[in-house]
Amino acid sequence: MADSRKDRRTIHALLTAGNPGEQVRVHGWVRTRRDSKGVIFLELNDGSCLANLQAVLEGEAGQALLPDGVATGAALIAWGVLAESPAKGQRVELYPERIELVGGTQEDYPLQKKRHGFEYLRTIGHLRPRSNTFGAVARVRNALFMAIHNYFQGRGFQYLPAPMITASDAEGAGEMFTITTIDPAKPPLRDGGVDWSQDFFGKKASLTVSGQLQGEIFAHAFHDVYTFGPTFRAENSNTSRHAAEFLMVEPEMAFAGLQDNMELAEDFIRNVIKELHARCGEDLAFFDQRIEQGLLEKLRHVMEEPFETLTYTEAVKMLEDSGETFEFPVRWGLDLQSEHERYLTEKKVGRPLFVVDYPREIKAFYMRANDDGRTVAAMDLLVPGIGEIIGGSQREERLDALLAQLRARAMPEEDYWWYLDLRRYGGTPHSGFGVGFERLLMYVTGMANIRDVLPFPRTPGSVDF
Ligand code: 4AD
Ligand code: MG
Repeated sequence: MADSRKDRRTIHALLTAGNPGEQVRVHGWVRTRRDSKGVIFLELNDGSCLANLQAVLEGEAGQALLPDGVATGAALIAWGVLAESPAKGQRVELYPERIELVGGTQEDYPLQKKRHGFEYLRTIGHLRPRSNTFGAVARVRNALFMAIHNYFQGRGFQYLPAPMITASDAEGAGEMFTITTIDPAKPPLRDGGVDWSQDFFGKKASLTVSGQLQGEIFAHAFHDVYTFGPTFRAENSNTSRHAAEFLMVEPEMAFAGLQDNMELAEDFIRNVIKELHARCGEDLAFFDQRIEQGLLEKLRHVMEEPFETLTYTEAVKMLEDSGETFEFPVRWGLDLQSEHERYLTEKKVGRPLFVVDYPREIKAFYMRANDDGRTVAAMDLLVPGIGEIIGGSQREERLDALLAQLRARAMPEEDYWWYLDLRRYGGTPHSGFGVGFERLLMYVTGMANIRDVLPFPRTPGSVDF
């Protein structure tokens, strides 16, 4: 690697702002090499954008510049001059004056130029970031991450990185991964079970399923906060929208009810899409063309049209009257399955849909009881193609009502003493929601499987790379 990397230009910078005649230095990987009558074309990519930079090596002099072993997959540095490109859709191409092969390749390079299926690409998770689709996903993912922080930071929400290790089950669903240093071959026992008091933390600890409870603590000091970090679910769901490790964004607002919550969710979705639109035009156009036809139109629609709202009771009625045959039963009191969610948001409404006021029995203990005595102030946001991408609620701020819920669900009150304290000292009506980051990413890219928007998916039976 001769001389410094300081004068290196990204391919994105060259293709958007490079001028003919400029002397440049480029680093990248060879996507393809094409030899035709006296000219060699190299397509170089460095991940900075979808498009490749074409390097043109003419005649014997060009040939002579090319080290042995420059083929698909190789890493190289090229120095040369930019020239206006005769090819349509690209502004400049590179006429190299010197090429250094930095990392050679082999004929069996698994990512040859052809369209590979997503399932195959999952088996080469170490190389798939160099594929077109996955590269575009990764860039949009990066931009979405920033758009989310920008959205909340711009509105005075304070960021709280919630702890990943916790002793409480925020969702009360028992789908947690245990964290332990106990030797599974000889665990300390007491009363016929593992004696967790001898474990690292002195009690049983797990990976968090949600940062919400800590978010509620902070909301009662900072008014508006958000968590954004890894969450973990040990549910054995092998579906296209479930992962064992995923990112969740969880805003929490004090002095706020369900309506405020829905307004925030709608405004949030609209604004992060706007920012992506501005920052990731090329990649989104690629998704529109290759992955989901009509994606850009869909996103434009989301930015402009108000979302729909139905109560759970109305939604169930709609499903019952639909005349559709569903795999899972539909009845008041049963949870909505993905097929029901998709029917509602895709077929009935054709846009994002809030379903609110779910039966208490199918929702978490912390949701605020409605006056009807059987529903809670819950809201799920459903979108076409995926179903639920947001789950949230107004929280139960009334101490008695919250205690009654813990007892009804046989949850140990003593574990939640601090959560109950928030209701004793300066409690407020408060609300929040959780956005599945990967589900949102699926929505904005049109990618159909969560495994293809996670850099390194962790799902039941799979923890490679
Ligand atoms: O609906 P959930 O379970 O809600 C909560 O965890 C609340 N504590 C959030 C809150 O109110 N602060 O999860 C929220 C979202 C879901 O809507 C879904 O998008 C995503 O997280 N999600 C998953 N994404 C990928 N894989 C999984 N296994 C997921 N489980 C939930
Ligand atoms: Mg949910």
